[in-house]
Amino acid sequence: MKEFQNKTILVFGGAGFIGSNFIRKIATESPTARIVNFDKLTYSGNLQNLTDLKNKKGYVFVRGDIADKRLVDETFKTYKPSYVINFAAETHVDRSIHVGAKEFISTNVLGVFNILEAIKTAPTVKKYVQVSTDEVYGSLPLDSKDKFRETTAFAPNVPYAATKAAGDHLCHAYFNTWKVPVVVTHCSNNYGPYQYPEKLIPFFITRMLEHKKLPVYGDGKNVRDWIFVEDHCAALILCLSKGVSGQTYNIGADQEMSNLDIAAKILKKFGRTRSDIEFVTDRPGHDRRYAIDPAKIKAELGWKPAYTFSQAFELTLEWYIGHEKWIKDIRVKTGSFNPHIKTKK
Ligand SMILES: NC(=O)c1ccc[n+]([C@@H]2O[C@H](COP(=O)([O-])OP(=O)(O)OC[C@H]3O[C@@H](n4cnc5c(N)ncnc54)[C@H](O)[C@@H]3O)[C@@H](O)[C@H]2O)c1
Repeated sequence: MKEFQNKTILVFGGAGFIGSNFIRKIATESPTARIVNFDKLTYSGNLQNLTDLKNKKGYVFVRGDIADKRLVDETFKTYKPSYVINFAAETHVDRSIHVGAKEFISTNVLGVFNILEAIKTAPTVKKYVQVSTDEVYGSLPLDSKDKFRETTAFAPNVPYAATKAAGDHLCHAYFNTWKVPVVVTHCSNNYGPYQYPEKLIPFFITRMLEHKKLPVYGDGKNVRDWIFVEDHCAALILCLSKGVSGQTYNIGADQEMSNLDIAAKILKKFGRTRSDIEFVTDRPGHDRRYAIDPAKIKAELGWKPAYTFSQAFELTLEWYIGHEKWIKDIRVKTGSFNPHIKTKK
């Protein structure tokens, strides 16, 4: 993409799931861009996600915490980025409930504040994309056809979503007050390679590989709107290059599916049956349905998903089946993938 030729792109949280897919895509499509990956390497950050790029000319890794204002300021001063994108976040809803919200507030609110403050006085920055989630909009009823639009009011129900909403509000405030050139995106649930296996799809695949049952929360009818990570990254590249500062773009692939639908597809792939589902105590505050209306990004930036669900889902399953060592290595490093699930009494 011509906008990124010989430019520096500062990526926060590039060692995680979406960030590493984004870095790989932008490094391939814009080979002259310099990419600075700033990541704290929490339990979900994994430099193994980027081993193929670690010696690439123009790729730099900085280990750091976005809650550390001094280091964030220094990174802006050292690298003078033209483009900035933030994936760094505490992202797991169950952890925000069972472990606590403190880290979520530190990274998802204070960290975003530090990035905005740094950009306020960084003359080189043309665009900052804050990567956020549809969960800020709360929950839709199962029996409605409503979808989240950019104008839908925020109504977060769990600490993770509340901290992401706070970060998004700060972005809009910094645009309105100081014209910080920020774009906020709200995306639906992602799936694809390199996702930490506490999240639904890699978690279920891991359980299958370990010959265990699939634990499904509540009645399993909760609906999520699924998007392949590569399609999300393509949308983010458009937002970074062509998105209008101060605007919000909702990103989704019109692919609603219940947790039971996902479980059934994974069971079928592994030749297992519905008797391998174990219903477990529901998550507190479990949102019933998410659905994104992506009309704005399609009309204004010309984005559309390149993959069908069945293509990308198969590709994802095959990737995890072929990467058992990647899964084993992170289990050794970080332990149990979802200790918060409780069997129904
Ligand atoms: N995964 C999804 O389905 C989804 C959907 C919509 C939006 N999002 C958003 O996309 C972003 C990336 O999500 P993901 O699924 O790739 O998450 P992830 O948990 O896989 O990765 C997060 C990355 O951020 C890093 N990080 C965490 N705290 C940090 C800090 N204080 N300073 C620096 N780095 C830090 C971690 O080390 C990790 O590399 C998040 O902001 C999330 O809210 C995710």
